[in-house]
Amino acid sequence: VKSYQPVQPLYYGWFLNEADSWKLCDIAKSWLQAAINVEQFYKDLSHHIDVVSPEELLRTYSRQTYRDGGSILHCTANFTARGKDESSREYINNPIVKSAMGKCFPLHVIGFIITPRTFGVRLRLTVNQLDLWGQDDTETVPSIISHPHEPKKHKRNEPTEKKTDKENDIRYSLFSTTPLHSSCTVTITQLNSLSQADQFHPTSGKGSRAHITMGCAPGVKPVTTGFDLIDIVRREKEAQSSLTDVLETFTLPGGTLRNYGEGSWALYLDKELQISSLFSAYYG
Ligand code: A2P
Repeated sequence: VKSYQPVQPLYYGWFLNEADSWKLCDIAKSWLQAAINVEQFYKDLSHHIDVVSPEELLRTYSRQTYRDGGSILHCTANFTARGKDESSREYINNPIVKSAMGKCFPLHVIGFIITPRTFGVRLRLTVNQLDLWGQDDTETVPSIISHPHEPKKHKRNEPTEKKTDKENDIRYSLFSTTPLHSSCTVTITQLNSLSQADQFHPTSGKGSRAHITMGCAPGVKPVTTGFDLIDIVRREKEAQSSLTDVLETFTLPGGTLRNYGEGSWALYLDKELQISSLFSAYYG
């Protein structure tokens, strides 16, 4: 008698609906554009990425490397890699995880991170979401990312001879025209007024890696966004404890942009965005 093993998920996460994914892409695009309008930001980032114009920088981050095609945005809660180790299997069998499946959770967008490799949305997790959080917030960044003194120049998107269906599909470009949808759930809520010290490290400790990958530079995998965020959180802590170090900071309408060095920037929103999501698993 053959025994069959159940297929285990690749990862668990909070998934947006398609309308909200489009909407968030639009919002993210506006913020990236606002950052690019800051001359120092554009100069700094274009020094680290092989782009020749602000328009090209705006087009650099794409979602083509997403395994699922990239039309549904998500925040990974635990990368279980089909139950690769004991802790993944524990997560998969955790009753709290099992009972959260298919349930709705609000996602709180508090800012963005922009680096030569990735463009990500930064999230603040609620207490209930922290119960489901299984990512390592202090994971050591692989060496390819941790050598900031040798910035990796990313090749520009060369025009391909024949575009595949995937490339031609408008959904695979992060910054395409948003179709009209009536089911968006994006709302704006006032952030609790944070002290200036807290403004520049809105998350630390458990859940500080929580993010949505909006797009990656050519050749960069989505997992890199989490490593970039871990790195920025570390730099935020360093900046907070150093009294002398004054970081380049720019006030934008509705947010604050800060340079953490080596082409890594964080954008802090004055008001957080709330978006509905569904907790589920991705099997690939
Ligand atoms: P992220 O959550 O930053 O977007 P892939 O398509 O490469 O298998 O990745 C699927 C999802 O799981 C992506 O969303 C990705 O990053 C996340 N992910 C991939 N590999 C890892 C890993 N080793 N650790 C944590 N998250 C990962």
